[in-house]
Amino acid sequence: MNKKNIVLIGLMGAGKTTIGKMLSQKLETEYVDIDTLIERESKKTINKIFEMYGEVLFRKLEAKAIKKISKYSNQIISTGGGAVETPENLENFKKNSILVYLYAPPEELYKRIKDDHNRPLLKTGNPLQTMQKLFKKRQDFYNQADIKIETVNKKSYEIVDEIIEKCQKYECSSCNS
Ligand code: S3P
Repeated sequence: MNKKNIVLIGLMGAGKTTIGKMLSQKLETEYVDIDTLIERESKKTINKIFEMYGEVLFRKLEAKAIKKISKYSNQIISTGGGAVETPENLENFKKNSILVYLYAPPEELYKRIKDDHNRPLLKTGNPLQTMQKLFKKRQDFYNQADIKIETVNKKSYEIVDEIIEKCQKYECSSCNS
């Protein structure tokens, strides 16, 4: 039986990596982090890729990684916050995945990540405003998800349980076992 992937989308700081790892442990399924895969295959950090080649090339690497990974099934996949902006990525995921949007307002997300320097897009004069702009630009894409989870004031394990519960009606065999 085909087991759909669960793909986590959302802005930087939404918890895609943390929740993705916890979900994969709980469901005993494979975990893939698209950014980690890009770093491994290019042998460069995301920061370095942006610095050396810019965002356009990064998006190409991201699309290539997503095309490859979305062909497999029964995985938990964490994406980078901007993956939804490339239409091909959402199309590839929609074929065999349940899309889960981890939501929090950009102001809240900014508080969570402001001291983390691994986000090249936030190296601007006003990173909070940059987050707000990215949120505005991307929210229609994020809202294409099958499931939206509010993450503010929730513990990680509560978010994980909520995802599993909501995924049950989307042919998520791992969620039912
Ligand atoms: C990006 C988010 C990052 C990473 C890259 C670009 C974005 O991932 O893919 O820096 O465009 O929002 P996280 O969402 O895991 O921080």
